[in-house]
Parts: sequence; structure tokens; C-alpha cells
Amino acid sequence: MIALDAVHVTAWSPDPAGGADRVVTLLHPLSLRLDEPRVAVIGANGSGKSTLARLLNGLVLPSSGRVTVDGLDTARDGAAVRRLVGFVFTDPDAQIVMPTPVEDVALSLRRTHPDARERAQAARAVLARFGLAARADQPVHSLSGGQRQLLALAAVLATEPRVLVLDEPTTLLDLAWRAVVDDLVAGLEQQVVEVTHDLDAAGHADRVLVVDEGRVVHDGAPDEAVRHYRTLMAARASRVRDGSPS
Ligand SMILES: Nc1ncnc2c1ncn2[C@@H]1O[C@H](COP(=O)(O)OP(=O)(O)O)[C@@H](O)[C@H]1O
Ligand SMILES: [Mg+2]
Repeated sequence: MIALDAVHVTAWSPDPAGGADRVVTLLHPLSLRLDEPRVAVIGANGSGKSTLARLLNGLVLPSSGRVTVDGLDTARDGAAVRRLVGFVFTDPDAQIVMPTPVEDVALSLRRTHPDARERAQAARAVLARFGLAARADQPVHSLSGGQRQLLALAAVLATEPRVLVLDEPTTLLDLAWRAVVDDLVAGLEQQVVEVTHDLDAAGHADRVLVVDEGRVVHDGAPDEAVRHYRTLMAARASRVRDGSPS
């Protein structure tokens, strides 16, 4: 169970007018229990989706309140939480660190497979599961964007997390690769929390959170949540067209 209790996230931000730094709220106080197998998070750019996603594995810590995963506190037990919660970024290049796929997945396996030869073998098995067996020794930069996203997913899933948090994992992909990643994620046994701009993908979730201006403004079944988000965005678009502040 993922639990957010009265979580408030603030940050220091430079004053655009050149004055002293000021405190800005990234996420207003929020309490949530997430135990559905598939949770989607949707919302406008800059609304706070990544902040919410990053709270779940301690990449962002609450300024007040607390986040726990299976009872482990992200602030106190960060390393243990990160073993439970895998995180995949939008841009796979942000998390692929090794020159070849087999080395990158092997890096994830160093804790569970201390023997180097066994580790490389296990890494190849993981890559095969993700359709990347033939690419195992190819330089990472020669892979397509879609293949790199699969590799990033493979490297995270190799650690066998209980929960997978995905922050817009398909935003940079074309439709074909998006379908490949969506299918793969759909077949996972892990609990998945996915930030997405793909409203069709959100439509398949068990629960959808709509984030706006640092608040969860709707929380419920996909159809209603997507409708709420569309209405919100249509209203904002007409304010932008009218030239009024958004
Ligand atoms: N560390 C930070 N310091 C100051 N402002 C931040 C920080 N992280 C994010 N923000 C701001 O907080 C808002 C929400 O960011 P984010 O959670 O990344 O939104 P989203 O993922 O929905 O685009 C944005 O306006 C962003 O610029
Ligand atoms: Mg984001």
C-alpha cells in the first residue's frame, strides 16, 4: 500500500523580478491511499504530476507530512523504499548509464547476482524477455528511442520491484512503440502508477488522479476523470485564446 499523509511539497524558487528567493508550493497538502493495480495520473504541463510521482520512491521528499510504501517511510527508509518502488523516466537517456544493454541490466543485478558471469547471463535473460536479446551487446546510442525505453524498463524491472512508477514513459515514442510499451506495462504483475498524457492509456487504469496547479482535483474512475480533465483543459484553452491569465 502506498500512503500519503498530509503531504505538502514546497521549494525555494528564484524571484523572476530579481528579489530574494521565495517559497513556492509544488503540491498542496494531500492525503491518498493507492492500492489499485493500475493508477494513472493526468494533468497539464507543470501541474505537479512528476512531483507526485517522485514522492512515491523518495526522489522528492515531503516538506511536511509523510509518504510510506508498505509501511516504509520514504524519508527515513529511502534505500528500502527504492528497492520496492522502481521508477522510469520519460527520457530513457536519463537512466541508462552503461555503454551496452547487457552491462546496463547487469548493473541493476549486482545486488542479487554477485557472480559476474551469472549476472551477465541473468541480464541476457531479462533482455530476451523484453525483445532485446539481439541488441544485448550493441552500443546503447545505436538503439532507437523505443528500444532505449524498453531497456530502461528492463533495467528497472530486473530488480523485481513491487511497484513501478512511470513518468510519461511513452511521451517521446511514436504510436507503434507506444503500443509496445503499453502492452508490456499492461502485462506486468507489479502495481503500476503511470503519469501520462495518453488519455486512451489512462482509460485502462483502475483509478485516475487528475492533477491541476499542485492539487489532485479529481480522483476516480477513468471515464469521469478524463472528462473532468478535458473540461478543465478546454476552459483553460479558451482563457488563453481570450488573452486572460491562465
Ligand atoms: N525543485 C523545484 N524547485 C522549484 N520549482 C519546481 C521544482 N520542481 C518542480 N518545480 C515547478 O513545480 C511545478 C510542477 O512541476 P512538475 O511536478 O514537474 O509538473 P508536471 O510533471 O506536471 O509537468 C512546475 O511549475 C515546475 O516548474
Ligand atoms: Mg512531469
